[in-house]
Amino acid sequence: MTNATSAPAKAGLEDVVVSTSEICFIDGHLGRLLYRGFDVDELVARSTFEEVVYLLFYGKLPSKKELDAHVKALSSTANRKLPPKLIAMLRLLPKKTPPMEVLRTGVSALSAFDPEAADNSREATLNKSMRLTAQMPTLVAAWERIRRGKVPVAPNPRLSLAGNFLYMMSGKKPNELATKTFDVALILHADHEFNASTFAARVTAATLSDVHSAVVSGIGALKGPLHGGANEQVMLMVEKIKEPAKAEAWIRKALAEKARVMGFGHRVYRVEDPRAKHLRRLALELGQQAGNTDAVQIIETVARVVSAEKHIFPNVDLFSGAGYKTMGIPTDQFTPIFALSRVVGWAAHVLEQHGNNRLIRPRAEYTGALDAKYVPISER
Ligand code: CMC
Repeated sequence: MTNATSAPAKAGLEDVVVSTSEICFIDGHLGRLLYRGFDVDELVARSTFEEVVYLLFYGKLPSKKELDAHVKALSSTANRKLPPKLIAMLRLLPKKTPPMEVLRTGVSALSAFDPEAADNSREATLNKSMRLTAQMPTLVAAWERIRRGKVPVAPNPRLSLAGNFLYMMSGKKPNELATKTFDVALILHADHEFNASTFAARVTAATLSDVHSAVVSGIGALKGPLHGGANEQVMLMVEKIKEPAKAEAWIRKALAEKARVMGFGHRVYRVEDPRAKHLRRLALELGQQAGNTDAVQIIETVARVVSAEKHIFPNVDLFSGAGYKTMGIPTDQFTPIFALSRVVGWAAHVLEQHGNNRLIRPRAEYTGALDAKYVPISER
């Protein structure tokens, strides 16, 4: 008997190329990241999250007219608001439910209210992707308010996606630096080639399932601490360390105990993740504005020691949380925030997968028993 696989299994599919894609390019040796050919460093300096959404969905930069129409659609109350029954459903959840689980449940429930749920045409998938990108910030912010016993804040169509999210979380208009920082964080998290959650979303899409299902798959994969959940774990580490003066001893002890340090290492990058420097700079600026740079200083010390001792380098999750914390966002909301941006990448990949689909169905290298003999239960 043979299972006729062509090659031995590669643990974690490392370096296995599973598909062509025109969406995102990573050079892991040079530390470069491109969306549709544009370097993220340039997008951070010159673009906005809304424009990046257009770029990822449509494969090109918009004209002024196209961008205006796109921003209007993404900011409209019609697209941003949640069905009242969904808010009522959120109120039924136990208050201790982690926000990432609420997001997974809420996105799944949103499909029940979507007028094009059953339509998988490119046009309907684009419409649904726009709606999900607009609705997910409202969902995350609504849960934050509900679990604190407050009334959800209605979306403000005059604010950018970044500004509106921060506004819906606190009920107060955010300052310029916070809005800018959040917008940059959204740009930097929007896509990252065949990372675990995007692969999960593509596998789901390749069965010709719909974009809501693919996004739910993505959220489930993103939640784990080896992927998006790492940003939350970094902040828990900072909270354990407490003060900059204690950081060096703490991290040296953790390394001696062979701990896995969250926010470091990457399957693809052999140098520092190109996204980390932007988040470091903005976290520092925010900390300086707020008069407290302890978290950034702690992380800097941890990064110096880990890079020197282990030759593994900061990834996107290392500095993002320090900025979010200064904005007053609770730690367990960091991974849902990652999803608010990555939904755009997931949706772009669903569109690409549907555009040239073949079922994704790999093989296993079977290492179990062959010819097992069934013994009746009375004789075992
Ligand atoms: N801390 C300590 N050691 C590490 C770390 C780390 N963060 N990352 C890798 N290593 C070591 C690991 O112990 C192993 O050493 P050895 O060969 O001596 O056993 C070696 O480096 C290779 O590690 P690996 O786990 O086989 O590498 P991988 O490519 O399978 O894992 C990773 C990549 C991101 C899961 C891993 O680096 C990790 O666990 N990092 C911490 C979690 C994290 O920050 N995740 C976010 C990733 S980036 C954003 C995202 O995708 O969400």
